[in-house]
Amino acid sequence: MSTPTGDIALIGLAVMGQNLILNMNDHGFNVVAYNRTTAKVDEFLANEAKGTRVQGAHSIEEMVSKLKTPRRVMMLVKAGQAVDDFIEQLIPHLSAGDIIIDGGNSLYGDTERRVKYCESKGLLFIGTGVSGGEEGARRGPSIMPGGSFKAWDAVKDIFQGVSAKVDNGVPCCDWVGYGGAGHYVKMIHNGIEYGDMQLICEAYNIMKSGLGMSADEMHEVFAEWNQGELDSFLVEITRDILGFKDVDGSPLVDRILDTAGQKGTGKWTVIDSANLAQPVSLIAEAVFSRCVSSMKDERVKAARKLKGPNPLMAVAKNPTAKKAFIADIKSALYASKIVSYSQGYMLLRTAAVEYKWKLNYGGIALMWRGGCIIRSRFLGKIKEAYDTNPKLANLLLDDYFRGEIKNSQKGWRNVVAAAARKGIPVPAFSTALAFFDQYRSASLPANLLQAQRDYFGAHTYERTDKPRGEFFHTNWTGRGGNVSSSTYNA
Ligand code: 6PG
Repeated sequence: MSTPTGDIALIGLAVMGQNLILNMNDHGFNVVAYNRTTAKVDEFLANEAKGTRVQGAHSIEEMVSKLKTPRRVMMLVKAGQAVDDFIEQLIPHLSAGDIIIDGGNSLYGDTERRVKYCESKGLLFIGTGVSGGEEGARRGPSIMPGGSFKAWDAVKDIFQGVSAKVDNGVPCCDWVGYGGAGHYVKMIHNGIEYGDMQLICEAYNIMKSGLGMSADEMHEVFAEWNQGELDSFLVEITRDILGFKDVDGSPLVDRILDTAGQKGTGKWTVIDSANLAQPVSLIAEAVFSRCVSSMKDERVKAARKLKGPNPLMAVAKNPTAKKAFIADIKSALYASKIVSYSQGYMLLRTAAVEYKWKLNYGGIALMWRGGCIIRSRFLGKIKEAYDTNPKLANLLLDDYFRGEIKNSQKGWRNVVAAAARKGIPVPAFSTALAFFDQYRSASLPANLLQAQRDYFGAHTYERTDKPRGEFFHTNWTGRGGNVSSSTYNA
């Protein structure tokens, strides 16, 4: 048998897999391609991979036999059972120290379990986020690996070689942490992606319904926004989408049905935020907004029965006022985005404590700075904030972001108020503002809430005139007893 020459094998020849293989090939790595339906392997070798050094394999055994040791096998398959199935198929063919890599959008808890399982078999396991879609996989994605740290040295050159680069060659890929840390960071990335997309959609909706703007006009606005602090991949593609014409020359976006799909990573973020008691309200609104959007038939029926104000705003008719209002929408988008990232980072910080990960927050911002779907100029500022103060409690407290919110506040409030008056839904803009106002409140009405809990369930309360940790119960009606319930918090 000839000496194996494969640097890494890749299982799964769907769009991400194929593009990542070609990217690895461009960077000088020898890739072995495998797919469960093996006809796809031949097709790939005869077409996209023609003329490259990519090798094909028609069985797991053949694939493994073509790899140098330690063997590196990366899967880009559908999250869930398929990942476990491939692990089982791989184990009998691998030896101690070999590395299995899952590059799909797996749930971090599954990755945690798979790391332990593979390590118990003498193997190493990496669960890595790979972001950037088709183009990213081909030209340089953001890669967020975590799992068995011992495997990092053996994959570092490949991952950092093929990843996106920022600031003259800094790779958007670094080790995240043990167990499910890499997939957790990717999950938060996706949650933030949901938030960013919802914010952009709200800005679009106000311009469209409130200001009566055409797709072409909005195309111009997004083009301008993309020049400044909102410069990002998602604003850029929004600009292009709004300028894109259907075959008959009308904007394609106007023909797309308003029901959003979702594959689950946003929902996972929200579930974990609830479990860790972190108010990631903007991502939650983004997830729920997709749910509301998918209730299309019900909404169409409700639209006939539930009436609200005419959404068209008076400022729509006055060019100067309209321009000023568009600037306010930009402020609302920007300030809400700052809140969203602050909330995402709050969850990351809490997760790091809960799951015992040592996360590098500036490093995470850097990984997201290029290659991925949320890549933006803004993330450079987040990196700066954490470089200045790695222990920063909340992004909202960073001097730069504090200043930015201060400058945006007036416009942001104006937009939320105007949208409410005109019946235009802005769930993400308004939840961001509500959170901002809650977060900066030294006192909230939870005193009354605690009284209510104590009134009906003897749940007890702490007093402002007594030290923290001392709990009191009042017999509010004279009918209840003096026995209180325990004071644990979920
Ligand atoms: C990325 C994306 C990607 C995700 C899609 C679809 O980072 O490249 O996050 O991983 O799968 O964006 O997600 P939804 O179907 O949930 O919108």
